[in-house]
Amino acid sequence: MNPHSSAFGTRIPAYLDRLAQALDRRLPAVDQDPARLHQAMRYACDGGKRLRALLVYAAGESLGLPAERLDAPACAVELIHAYSLVHDDLPAMDDDDLRRGRPTVHKAYDEATAILVGDGLQTLAFAVLADEPALEPAQRLRMLSILARASGSLGMVGGQAVDIASEGRRISLEELQSLHARKTGALILSALQLAAAAADAAADVERRLETYGRHIGLAFQIQDDVLDETATTEVLGKTAGKDLAQHKSTYPSLLGLDTARQRAASLFEEARAVVAALPGGAAPLRWLADHIEGRGH
Ligand code: IPE
Ligand code: IPE
Ligand code: MG
Ligand code: MG
Ligand code: MG
Repeated sequence: MNPHSSAFGTRIPAYLDRLAQALDRRLPAVDQDPARLHQAMRYACDGGKRLRALLVYAAGESLGLPAERLDAPACAVELIHAYSLVHDDLPAMDDDDLRRGRPTVHKAYDEATAILVGDGLQTLAFAVLADEPALEPAQRLRMLSILARASGSLGMVGGQAVDIASEGRRISLEELQSLHARKTGALILSALQLAAAAADAAADVERRLETYGRHIGLAFQIQDDVLDETATTEVLGKTAGKDLAQHKSTYPSLLGLDTARQRAASLFEEARAVVAALPGGAAPLRWLADHIEGRGH
């Protein structure tokens, strides 16, 4: 039972529907030339928990924004995320065959298509923000900057580079935290920053949202590492036990499972506490923290 049960939980199906429609409108049609590439782009965007989009909607709702102003940033962050997974699964990276319970894009199509799908989804994310009529031009520009920085070599892409460079090497806890903050945390943080930009939020409100985003982002990757060790391939929809097989440094490998779990729990607690002080108590964000904390995949 979610202790912060609020109306937000009951609205999740509607938000997920909304996101699916918003993505459908923005992705090129399957018969648009080159059709195979566009089919593969849609394939890559199917499924998933959509937690980054839900963070945009929950933060936006906490700031009193109508959903129309949140659709573009919610789509944009999911497009970048989907691209990052397609490239993460490539043979040159984690070499995974299974994603979201289905063959990865390079398995269902081919490697060149998977590379191009990632490229196409990434650039579409920025076009979606730049073209959004429901946002002021200054807000679009701010969002483009937020998402580009979060995705790039100082954010997700940089984190992926360090992740690959760290394979087979035991790194320190500080290095691992910095790696996680970049490869996963940066994009999750950007979801909060995008919502703050859509609301022209005051600096102190934005700071609280950012702290929430940093805590959730790190906790989320710790959970991902724990689940890689403890959950089954069937439940995860991706191959379990990969981190150990590929000699990745993870929270459980450095700290043990119990300490890793405790670390995630205290990060979720800190995340809830920092937004509780926002006007209105940010119930949607506290609810979402519980929802993410309770995830089994
Ligand atoms: C998996 O992310 C990759 C990480 C950054 C840990 P998610 O667990 O959010 O993947 P989907 O979108 O639900 O498939
Ligand atoms: C991937 O981290 C993070 C990004 C895609 C940027 P992982 O490699 O741990 O994600 P999974 O476990 O394959 O989903
Ligand atoms: Mg990886
Ligand atoms: Mg991976
Ligand atoms: Mg993982």
